[in-house]
Amino acid sequence: MHSMQLTMSWLIYPFFSSLAFFLFLILFQIRIGRKKKKSEYYSKLPPSPPPLPILGNLLWFLPDFDLGPTLRRLRSLLGPIATLHIPLLPPCIFIMDIDLAHRTLVRHAAAFSHRTPPLSPGRAFRIHAHSINTAPYGPRWRRLRHTLAVDLLNPSRLPSFSHAHRWALGSLVQKLQESSGSSGVNTVVDARESFRFATFQALTLICFGDKLDDSTLRRLNALQLDYLSLTVKLSAYGLLPSVAMVLYFNRWSRALHLSRKIDELLFPLFRAREQVEEEDPSFVSYLDLLLKLGLDDDEMVSLCMEFLNAGVDTTTTTLEWVMVHLAKNQEIQERLYEEIKTATSRGGNVQKIPYLKAVVLEALRRHPAAHVALPHMAGETVEVDGYVIPKGAIVN
Ligand code: HEM
Repeated sequence: MHSMQLTMSWLIYPFFSSLAFFLFLILFQIRIGRKKKKSEYYSKLPPSPPPLPILGNLLWFLPDFDLGPTLRRLRSLLGPIATLHIPLLPPCIFIMDIDLAHRTLVRHAAAFSHRTPPLSPGRAFRIHAHSINTAPYGPRWRRLRHTLAVDLLNPSRLPSFSHAHRWALGSLVQKLQESSGSSGVNTVVDARESFRFATFQALTLICFGDKLDDSTLRRLNALQLDYLSLTVKLSAYGLLPSVAMVLYFNRWSRALHLSRKIDELLFPLFRAREQVEEEDPSFVSYLDLLLKLGLDDDEMVSLCMEFLNAGVDTTTTTLEWVMVHLAKNQEIQERLYEEIKTATSRGGNVQKIPYLKAVVLEALRRHPAAHVALPHMAGETVEVDGYVIPKGAIVN
């Protein structure tokens, strides 16, 4: 028995050593192949400034991680498409030309409809975890995107939001009158805050289906502003969550605190809307549509906050620019005023006021409220203008 074991072990040993050697060769071949492929792949990436060891191109974001100046410097040095290598992240590719952006993000829409995954550290950041802009491309993203863009924000639904617009307009006019005071014509009024609050009011009604009372509106507005300003600082968690957790523990606990406060405010609104028995066929809110999808509370908090985060400041900023240009160009203001007056006296439809539409589109063209698209992630490797955008790359 013993000798047989010995013979077997002698037989097994050369068998395993040659197998191991053979495996080593195969793996070596694969690694060489990979290295070769990797260097080919790097040589075809869009150009990048020379990366430093360990830090890569991280210093390009200094002094204050403001993307605008970084992109301007990058464009003048390398042209309309460039790569930045950031430690622990896949290559970050920046497209800085409208035509090229269209050829990449629109023509290859299916390949670039993925998003970068949401920040990870648990419940504190879950406000972003279930939103449309962090959902990977797939059936869930399509369903949510369809719900928002087609079922809710469809232009044919605009008249059904008129009570929201009237409500917001009423308090906007009142606020502006109050802040201009009795001294009248020559008073300087800081209109931004009033525009923002009116937009917020209109969007909360479209979102939750009911007019929120003044105190709830103000608390939600304050929480939303706090969370938005914190969100910028939370990007540190995208790189090394566990290190960021130690370095920026305060940010994490603040995010957790704010998200609990937001829950306390929104959960009762969800329950109240669930109880509404008689649906108003002429008006459907975002929450009504989300409830029909059978989503849980966390998902609905994410989506409702995304609705407000994405809609309020973009609309306010655009409105502000329209007003700047109307104040500077009195003849345009006059023409617009006459057109709106005529259309509304006929019980008019906002969409049939072509000059108003032109004014808004021109403001959007000259002052795009969002200068950069949200980061996309390449779902497959795509070649554009001779450059390779590899699967997994972050595309901005
Ligand atoms: C002047 C107004 C607005 C501007 C300039 C604007 C601009 C943008 C931009 C540039 C993106 C990123 C697109 C991309 O990365 O592909 C975006 C995404 C988004 N916007 Fe807006 N937006 C505006 C108003 C609104 C409003 C009113 C809402 C909702 C109430 C909204 C909801 C969203 C959502 C949910 C996304 C993410 C979509 C996705 O990931 O598929 N936006 N917006």
